[in-house]
Amino acid sequence: MVDSVTLERNPRSTFPHCRALPIAAFLCVATAASFAKSGEFATYVAPVLERRCLGCHNEAVRKGGLSLATASAVFAGGENGRVIEPGSPAASYLLDLVTPANGRAAMPKDGDPLTPAEIGALRHWISEGAVWPEDITLKAGRIAHAPPLLL
Ligand code: HEC
Repeated sequence: MVDSVTLERNPRSTFPHCRALPIAAFLCVATAASFAKSGEFATYVAPVLERRCLGCHNEAVRKGGLSLATASAVFAGGENGRVIEPGSPAASYLLDLVTPANGRAAMPKDGDPLTPAEIGALRHWISEGAVWPEDITLKAGRIAHAPPLLL
C-alpha cells in the first residue's frame, strides 16, 4: 500500500530534475557545438576574407555581383548564382575559384593564391555547415586598403 503510493509519486513530484536534466544536458551540448562553429568563422575564416577578398567584394563594390560582407550577401551569391553550398565544399563555387591550378587561382583576382592553410580553413568551415553568425559584418582589412603608392 505504502509502496504503490510512493511509486506513483516518484516520476514527477519527487524527482522533477530527472525530467529537466536530460533537456539541460542537451542544450549545453547544442550550445557548445554552435558556439564552436561561430568561433571557427570569426577566428579562421573572417580574417582571410577580410585580408584577401573584401577589397573587391564589399557592400559598395561588388565585383562579379558578389559581396562577402554579411551572411545574407554571401548566401545570396553573385551574378552566377550561389557561391557556397553549406556542408559541401565540392559543390561550392567559391572554393573552386580559390583553389590554384599551376600556381594560379581565379580568386583573389590578380593576386597571389591563398595559402594551403587558408584554403583548408575555408574548406573545413564549409564542410561544417558554413556557419556565419548574423551579427558579424566584414570590412576590408588594412592591407587591402593600402595605397599602391607605398610599393
Ligand atoms: C582585385 C579584386 C578582387 C579580389 C581581391 C577578389 N575578387 Fe573575386 N571577383 C573579382 C571580379 C572582377 C570578379 C568577376 C569575375 C572576373 O572578372 O573574374 C570576381 C568574381 C568572384 C566570384 C564569382 C561571383 C559570381 O557569381 O560570378 C567569387 C565566388 C569570388 N570572386 C570570390 C572571391 C574570393 C573568395 C576572394 C578572396 C579570396 C576574391 N574573390 C577576391 C575581383 C576580385
